[in-house]
Amino acid sequence: MTKVGNHGFLAQLGLLAFSLLLMTLVGCEINSNDTKIQYMPDMADGPTVKAQEDYLDPPEFSVPVNGILYPKTVEQSEKLLKNPFPASDKVVAEGKEMYNTFCIPCHGPKGKGNNALGGKYPTPPDLTLPMYKNRADGFYFHRITFGSAIMPGYGHAISPHERWMLIHYMRSLQN
Ligand code: HEC
Repeated sequence: MTKVGNHGFLAQLGLLAFSLLLMTLVGCEINSNDTKIQYMPDMADGPTVKAQEDYLDPPEFSVPVNGILYPKTVEQSEKLLKNPFPASDKVVAEGKEMYNTFCIPCHGPKGKGNNALGGKYPTPPDLTLPMYKNRADGFYFHRITFGSAIMPGYGHAISPHERWMLIHYMRSLQN
C-alpha cells in the first residue's frame, strides 16, 4: 500500500505552480511581430462600427420589422387606402379627441378654418366644402400622415388607427 504523505502533495502542488509560471513566461516570449492566434476569428473579423463612423446603411428596399409601407403620393393613397374601421359613436368620439388635440389650433372647432391664430399663420381652407367632402378617406390619411404644402405631418404623433378614427370625425363635421 503506498501512502501519499503531506510532503508528496506539497511537492506536486509546487511543481504545478512552477510549470504554470514557466508557461506564462514562455507565453510572453512570443515575438510581437508574429501573427497572433485568433481565439474566435468570426467575432474579430466581423464588420464593426469604428469611432467617427456611421452604422452600415440597410440594404435598399428593406423595411424595419415594425415599419409601415405607405403609398407614395396622395393620389395613390386616395385610390388604394380604405378606412378599415366602420364608423360608430365610439369611433367618432375617439376621432374627435384626436381632432381637438392636433387639428383644432389651425382648422378651428368645426373644420372651417376659423382659428384663434388671428391670421399669424396662413388660414387653412374650409374642410367642410364639397371639394373636400368629395375626397376619399385615403386623401385625408395621407395629409394627416405627411402634411401638406405648409401643414405639418402628424404621422409621428397619431397612430394609423387613430388617423382613421379622426377621419370618421371629420366626416361628421362635413355632414
Ligand atoms: C399648424 C397648423 C395646422 C395644423 C395643426 C393642422 N393643419 Fe391641416 N392645414 C393647415 C394649413 C395652413 C392648410 C392649407 C395649406 C396646406 O395645404 O398646406 C391645411 C390643409 C389641410 C387639408 C387640405 C389639404 C389639401 O391638400 O387641400 C387637410 C385635409 C388638413 N389640413 C387636415 C388636417 C388635420 C386632420 C389635422 C389634424 C391632424 C390638421 N390638418 C392639422 C394647417 C394646419
